[in-house]
Amino acid sequence: MKVAVLGAAGGIGQALGLLLKTQLPNGTELSLYDIAPVTPGVAADLSHIPTAVKVTGFAGEDPAPALIDADIVLISAGVARKPGMERSDLFNINAGIVKNLVSVCADICPKALIGIITNPVNTTVAIAAEVLKQKGVYDPARLFGITTLDIIRSNTFVAEVNGVRPEDLNIPVIGGHSGITILPLLSQSGFEFTEDEAASMTKRIQNAGTEVVEAKAGGGSATLSMGQAAAQFGLSLVRALNGEQDIIECTYVEGSGDKARFFAQPVLLGKNGVEKILSYGDLSDFEEATLNAAISTLKTDISIGEDFIN
Ligand code: NAD
Ligand code: LMR
Repeated sequence: MKVAVLGAAGGIGQALGLLLKTQLPNGTELSLYDIAPVTPGVAADLSHIPTAVKVTGFAGEDPAPALIDADIVLISAGVARKPGMERSDLFNINAGIVKNLVSVCADICPKALIGIITNPVNTTVAIAAEVLKQKGVYDPARLFGITTLDIIRSNTFVAEVNGVRPEDLNIPVIGGHSGITILPLLSQSGFEFTEDEAASMTKRIQNAGTEVVEAKAGGGSATLSMGQAAAQFGLSLVRALNGEQDIIECTYVEGSGDKARFFAQPVLLGKNGVEKILSYGDLSDFEEATLNAAISTLKTDISIGEDFIN
């Protein structure tokens, strides 16, 4: 099993590399790539941690050497928000970065499961899909937008107000990964919310990325919590590829298209990536209305990505 991280010298990449080095199964290869020259040094640093995970590091313009025989590719390469910016403001730089990296994935490891972290996720996943399609290797079961941070935030915040352990919660978050497209299903949390409480908790979760961006005051966006979220998702992919059953994660994938071409919802993972897209169950009236209000934004975000490639 080989897991590649592209953007590995960045804030998320380094946190993710650390968590994967310590949590991947014995014998896994962890391949790190970033344009930053420090990347082989990050790999050398991680390689001194005593686990049976072999770490290699590649820097420079060409990601190809890092991708040879990769089974899973996690992409966090790109720029992060500063205060006052929306995720969509990252499109101009990150669209081209994702396009180029996924294009090399298509050539070097066309069967790999690809998880996109780079923002704006609603759009960059559509870019990745169109690149893979143009290369003739697109399999919707193998492409994921990583939205796990929204789930772990929901668990944390809801646990906080109810005085329970966040590890015991698993609140589905559906839709997309920006602003109003992030919809936590608080009605499935196991706790009662009045409509006002649901509205205010939903807003807190939707705004959580901005909360970190503002607190970091120009120093970037969420890296440590995202490292944790990406590690959780990446390790679930590893477990599913290794044949473990019942691995379910909420993730942004191409499904039936009844709401939008790409949509985050619970997905059963298996040896080929998406085994089955699961129902997200019944929504409260508040959730139904919030989702309906978000769909046109999500569709626009997706078409910006499609148009960029086509
Ligand atoms: P960062 O600036 O700390 O790291 C980004 C890294 O990407 C840098 O090391 C940079 O050298 C590298 N890079 C840039 N262009 C590259 C290329 N062409 N090839 C390889 N590497 C390249 O940023 P970060 O905090 O790690 O955030 C990375 C991205 O993740 C941002 O777009 C951010 O918005 C996004 N993000 C997504 C989520 C999510 O929930 N999906 C959460 C947090 C952040
Ligand atoms: C997050 O949710 O923290 C990320 O998408 C980064 C950001 O810009 O908010």
